[in-house]
Amino acid sequence: MDPTKRKTIIAGNWKMNMTPSQAAKLTFDLKTAIPLKRRACEIVLCVPYVDIEMVKTGVTGSEMKLGAQNVHFAPKGAYTGEISAEMLTECGVEYVIVGHSERRQYFGETDETADKRLLAGVNAGLKVILCVGETLAERESGVTTQVIARQTRVGLADVSREMLGNVIIAYEPVWAIGTGKTATADQAEEVCAFIRGVVAELYDSGAAEGLTIQYGGSMNAGNAAELLSKKDVDGGLIGGASLKPEEFAKIIEAAER
Ligand code: PGA
Repeated sequence: MDPTKRKTIIAGNWKMNMTPSQAAKLTFDLKTAIPLKRRACEIVLCVPYVDIEMVKTGVTGSEMKLGAQNVHFAPKGAYTGEISAEMLTECGVEYVIVGHSERRQYFGETDETADKRLLAGVNAGLKVILCVGETLAERESGVTTQVIARQTRVGLADVSREMLGNVIIAYEPVWAIGTGKTATADQAEEVCAFIRGVVAELYDSGAAEGLTIQYGGSMNAGNAAELLSKKDVDGGLIGGASLKPEEFAKIIEAAER
């Protein structure tokens, strides 16, 4: 990470965990573990929709920002089960994830829908975390960079240079998510730097240098410092470890160094 050039962001992705009462307790415990002080990094909690209200109250008076895990591209209408950007902003949500590999894997989302969802989020004033990442089969067959380039290009297809200020990219190798198998710091750096290169081609080097690129995939208190020491790794998108207050607090500490 290079805080002189871009913001470091540590975001927790709670996935489908925590009922509202459990969310209230977890937020309280996080607030205790992460004391209020001037911080070099931004802290975000991406929570299930039904927890938004609880967590919003819980993070008041802390440095933690509120995020959601998806957003639909239409402003409203017959999209059973979906949530619009306006619904999120009215609830006080500032960040949203799009194109997470679990959405792609289990719910048929694609690079194109990630692009549309991203656009809807940014247009509504949300900061959007676009996830990209290769599967194990793709890595083993040597097509990682092709896959990442495609996901980045299509995901940003409708994003102007101006909008890019509200976009974050999370590199999350699918084989590292929830598996305990973290990418090495060098593997993470290689792909994050590659993404920055793709963004420089799409826009310009200034835009690329200012873009926050997170790593995600089994990041924890033990490996965060090394991953975050890499110059193109500007933070983390953290699943499992974000549900453990002490662990999450240690990752934030690693990002403060
Ligand atoms: P993990 O999940 O930290 O549990 O591997 C990361 C993510 O999917 O965002």
